[in-house]
Amino acid sequence: MKVKIRGKRRLQGTVEISGAKNSAVAIIPAAVLADEPLTIRNIPDIQDVRTLIAILQEIGYSVSFRDNILRIKQLTKIDPDIGSEEVKKLRGSYYFMGAFLGKLKKVKIYASGGCNLGHRPINFHLDGFRKLGANVAFEGERIALSAPKLKGASIALGFPSVGATINLMLAAVKARGETVISNAAIEPEIVDVGNFLTSMGAIIEGLGTPTIKIKGVKYLHGTDFTISPDRIEAGTFLILGALSKGKGITVKNVEPEKMSSLLNLLRGIGCELKIGMNEIHIKSSDNLRNFHVTTKPYPGFPTDLGQLATVLMLVIEGNSSLKETIFSNRFSHVNELKKMGADIRVEGDTIHVQGPCKLKKATLVAHDLRCAAALILASTLTPGLTVIENIDVLLRGYENPIQKFRSLGLNINIE
Ligand code: EPU
Repeated sequence: MKVKIRGKRRLQGTVEISGAKNSAVAIIPAAVLADEPLTIRNIPDIQDVRTLIAILQEIGYSVSFRDNILRIKQLTKIDPDIGSEEVKKLRGSYYFMGAFLGKLKKVKIYASGGCNLGHRPINFHLDGFRKLGANVAFEGERIALSAPKLKGASIALGFPSVGATINLMLAAVKARGETVISNAAIEPEIVDVGNFLTSMGAIIEGLGTPTIKIKGVKYLHGTDFTISPDRIEAGTFLILGALSKGKGITVKNVEPEKMSSLLNLLRGIGCELKIGMNEIHIKSSDNLRNFHVTTKPYPGFPTDLGQLATVLMLVIEGNSSLKETIFSNRFSHVNELKKMGADIRVEGDTIHVQGPCKLKKATLVAHDLRCAAALILASTLTPGLTVIENIDVLLRGYENPIQKFRSLGLNINIE
């Protein structure tokens, strides 16, 4: 699929932010740990969620998904040999490893896919599973885990990995005894997953801190849980607000306290922000200041907004830069922006932009989720017709993006 966009800078209006993708893609696999049916609300209707639902249905769950409410019920005895190849379509499917290890003490599953952001090993996940007593075997494209005795352990992560922290929590909530994960990631999505598990009766302390303690339990009951709003989707529209020359953009249904690194940056370069309980209004100015930013684990500037921040640099006078420290290659948008005439280059782990850049129409390719969002933002900067191919990657992670951009006044069509 592709989108055709006729850009304009006077975008304005209000956008309702959906539930957090990176919470949803973990909480859906985590749901298999429940010994009773459950309900999860505010689930974004995105392709990655649809894929996880298909996997659950193939495994033996009844799933209904309507109005962002997901109801999940186990129908049959679950076979730990999971043959679904849908698993290869996204990153979050690897959470079935931790969840089924916890529930069934064994699982065999295809290796997961996801955005290509350079080398994405899962050694911290597997080392942690081993510490909990699991054997790890590779069988062609599949990974087999089995733990005759799943026992709590002390696990120190080599890096505060979001994925490893969540996967190990999932395995540990039903392991015997206490698990301590140190150097754990503290991203809000981890707290969301932990709160979800706690709402089913799991015993977890220290969520949102680098040391998480889990006391294993035998039984997890059903729950009715609402996931948090997507801070990265909110950030996407706020950066669009900083690029726009209209009356401003308001994002609703957000948690501003989880977005301080972005909000500080936007205010620091000269945007006007009005922050309410659950909404943020941004109005840009004609004199934005150039900036230099480094991506870091939470509460630092999120890697997921790095590509989008470099689009903002295109409209600001002077040299700006983004240093990417989380992934080895999150620069797929750079060559696409060059096709539009951007003065942008990569040096090692840093992107440099010399602004302001006069952009022209071009035909582009979206290589990954945030690359797609960045290219849409860039397309608003030229009145020419921008075509973005392979836009399917955007639909994996943003709910109703075309309608949301249109509601702000953007002329965008998908075909
Ligand atoms: N790493 C290892 N070994 C591991 C795990 C991670 O070396 O076992 C490295 C990674 O290669 C990377 C770094 O540690 O260099 C951080 O990886 P992390 O595990 O924290 O990231 P992730 O779990 O793979 C999640 C999100 C990403 C988000 C990152 C960082 C999901 C499904 N994905 O990835 O989201 O960028 O955390 O916040 O939750 C996105 O939404 O666009 C996206 C890519």
